[in-house]
Amino acid sequence: MPDPTSELPFVILDALRPISQRRILNRRGSAVWDVETETRRYAVKLGYPIAPTPEWPAQPWTALAPAREGAVFHRLDLDDIAYGEWELGTWNIQPWHEGPDLYGLWEPCRADGSAIEPHVSVALSCAKALARLHAQGWSHGDVQPAHFIIGPDRTHLIDLALAHGQPVPPSYDFPYRGCLVHYEAPEISRSILERGVAEPTPAADVYALGASLFISATGWRAVAYPDDASRPQQRKAIVNATHRPVNMAGPLGVLINGMLAYDIEKRPSIDEVVKALN
Ligand SMILES: Nc1ncnc2c1ncn2[C@@H]1O[C@H](COP(=O)(O)OP(=O)(O)O)[C@@H](O)[C@H]1O
Ligand SMILES: [Mg+2]
Repeated sequence: MPDPTSELPFVILDALRPISQRRILNRRGSAVWDVETETRRYAVKLGYPIAPTPEWPAQPWTALAPAREGAVFHRLDLDDIAYGEWELGTWNIQPWHEGPDLYGLWEPCRADGSAIEPHVSVALSCAKALARLHAQGWSHGDVQPAHFIIGPDRTHLIDLALAHGQPVPPSYDFPYRGCLVHYEAPEISRSILERGVAEPTPAADVYALGASLFISATGWRAVAYPDDASRPQQRKAIVNATHRPVNMAGPLGVLINGMLAYDIEKRPSIDEVVKALN
């Protein structure tokens, strides 16, 4: 079958008139292009439906995700965004954010015998990015290290396709069925196991930020399970087990331990996280 995202759809070429373009990723119903125009650099996301595989059930929602994210951007009043439909699904255009992601930036901390400590200022910038979103009435729903881009001026929290909190157009909406399980809070995993759906919340985002900081600094998933565990097995481990001991020095260790609390009420709010790191 021809590769449907190997070229940009005409609607994007027409809207942006690129002077250069490069597809940087194509997986699981989503392709991302890095596009430069005369004036600005953009990320262009193309969604398309995917057929079932042994690992993944059929996921028609991947076709809708870019437009859903575009609608969230719109509600957030962000500049320079657009979204719409192409032959196989939906697309969005958003400003390109320069910089490494959290996992990449903290790679030196994970090297064997490394004495390099993760920078508290980086953790603070990630917490501030999430705090901005929560303050605007949204939960992200898919917090993970790859979604924090550490820019020279500020950190950007990307991939808002699963964010919840305010209405999005019903034609582009779809139920929340969890995120990457390594970052899923126990109450989300339990809800997915029991009902197939869940509700993203600020408290679950705080847990996911704790798990993201922990894995980026140490290389360890917050909750232990075998690499080849199925997704239901991973979720059962999250629901039934306690997280690994957070043996990181300094203020980050204490804070992450609290963020990974099993009980929602025991987790700090994102504002408390920001305050603790400031
Ligand atoms: N605005 C952006 N600026 C820079 N890179 C981006 C941007 N949006 C996406 N990317 C890159 O594309 C990858 C996938 O994007 P993401 O929004 O997470 O889409 P997906 O739905 O495929 O997970 C990111 O991890 C990042 O490397
Ligand atoms: Mg993503």
